[in-house]
Amino acid sequence: MDEARILASADVDERAKIGAGTTVWHLAQVREDAILGEDCVVGRGAYVGPGVRIGDRVKLQNHALVYEPAVLEDGVFVGPAAVLTNDPYPRSADVAGVLKRPGDWAALGVTVREGASIGARAVVVAGRTVGRYALVGAGAVVTRDVPDFALVVGSPARRIGWVGRAGEPLEEAGGGRWRCPRTGEEYREAGAEGERRLILPNR
Ligand SMILES: CC(C)(COP(=O)(O)OP(=O)(O)OC[C@H]1O[C@@H](n2cnc3c(N)ncnc32)[C@H](O)[C@@H]1OP(=O)(O)O)[C@@H](O)C(=O)NCCC(=O)NCCS
Repeated sequence: MDEARILASADVDERAKIGAGTTVWHLAQVREDAILGEDCVVGRGAYVGPGVRIGDRVKLQNHALVYEPAVLEDGVFVGPAAVLTNDPYPRSADVAGVLKRPGDWAALGVTVREGASIGARAVVVAGRTVGRYALVGAGAVVTRDVPDFALVVGSPARRIGWVGRAGEPLEEAGGGRWRCPRTGEEYREAGAEGERRLILPNR
């Protein structure tokens, strides 16, 4: 496997770990103690905060901002200019007017589970989890956890459908079953109204 490829203008801290086959493009910044897996792509101008953990085959598009202590599992896609935030109630200074330093507040990371995608310029607020293979539409603001395979859009983000592992919207097949038009995989819907979830049997 190829070694990591880090462009000359990228700013990768020497304490960060970058997996084989990963490319870090121009002007991207990867902070201390961040861990990136194999075969990732970190786009131009993207930011990876201190200690962020990123799996294999993850793509951060141009200017995606991933604030610590986010965790991105294998196969995650973060669209251009999307922001994974880490402070629900941000303040620059404390009540005495003194600048807050990293030790003065507790960062709350976003988790993005295996295979999920975050659309362009979407925002995920601190501490939320985007479920496996979920798809967050462009410009969405995610304020609640997103279930596995959910397709969510808007601000606040609401579910408008389901997507399969291939990323395409699933088609209703009757009896609580949903089918992927691309792969033919069949998913099963469960849970009460408002708490619906989708299951891919045997996975
Ligand atoms: C969310 C998304 C997957 C929906 O695609 P789709 O299944 O083809 O849906 P449609 O275009 O048929 O839209 C369905 C409805 O959702 C709305 N909608 C679609 N995308 C939306 C978005 N990003 N935000 C808000 N509403 C959206 C549409 O207006 C439509 O509403 P209506 O039924 O009231 O007219 C797609 O629009 C999207 O945002 N993809 C992400 C693109 C992206 O950021 N890529 C990153 C790499 S560049």
